[in-house]
Amino acid sequence: MNRMDAVMEEMGLHPLWRLKPGKANEFPDEPAAMGWEEMKSAIESCTACPLHKGRNRTVVGVGSEKADWLFIGEAPGAEEDLKGEPFVGQAGKLLDNMLASIGLSRENNVYIANTVKCRPPANRNPEPSEMAACHPFLSRQIELVGPKLIVLLGRIAAQSVLDSDASISSLRGKVHACGNIPAIVTYHPAYLLRNPMDKSKAWEDLCFARKVMTGL
Ligand code: URA
Repeated sequence: MNRMDAVMEEMGLHPLWRLKPGKANEFPDEPAAMGWEEMKSAIESCTACPLHKGRNRTVVGVGSEKADWLFIGEAPGAEEDLKGEPFVGQAGKLLDNMLASIGLSRENNVYIANTVKCRPPANRNPEPSEMAACHPFLSRQIELVGPKLIVLLGRIAAQSVLDSDASISSLRGKVHACGNIPAIVTYHPAYLLRNPMDKSKAWEDLCFARKVMTGL
């Protein structure tokens, strides 16, 4: 049993909630069977982990709900928590510039989500148990968007979706799999704000992603 399945089992969550396309309708009352509207209201009223206690708004995602490109970040910060939209702060401005550099925008053919839908206190990383509690929603979101390619922004997103403890540097430059959807890994924009020297590597990753997408 892998790490995320183990955490989910500990929490009483069925492992079929992991990212396994084709299993979507086995739990009709659970996120795996929900449509967009049902899932959004389930997220708004979710109390599955302690993060719900500190939230102002849940942050489901933004963009085209049938986008070819799915970008997954970590967790909402203070501004996202107030607005209910992912990546609206400084990191969001950089993400928008990164998208523009490969001809994309959050308004056009891109969907942006996070591994958890509520803000962790003091902008700490989400705990594995919080990521596991939110995982059924992320999993269903991926199925509903049905992207051609997933771009994982940073270590937390890579860990959550690929169930890997590997470093970003070892995950970059490869095509991973999220179910049957190809996924690539790059740096989180907030990391790039703190480490601008690595922006050139992120640019390489985006060019790689565009090349992978062109070949699909
Ligand atoms: N960082 C993230 O990972 N997600 C957001 O929505 C905002 C900042």
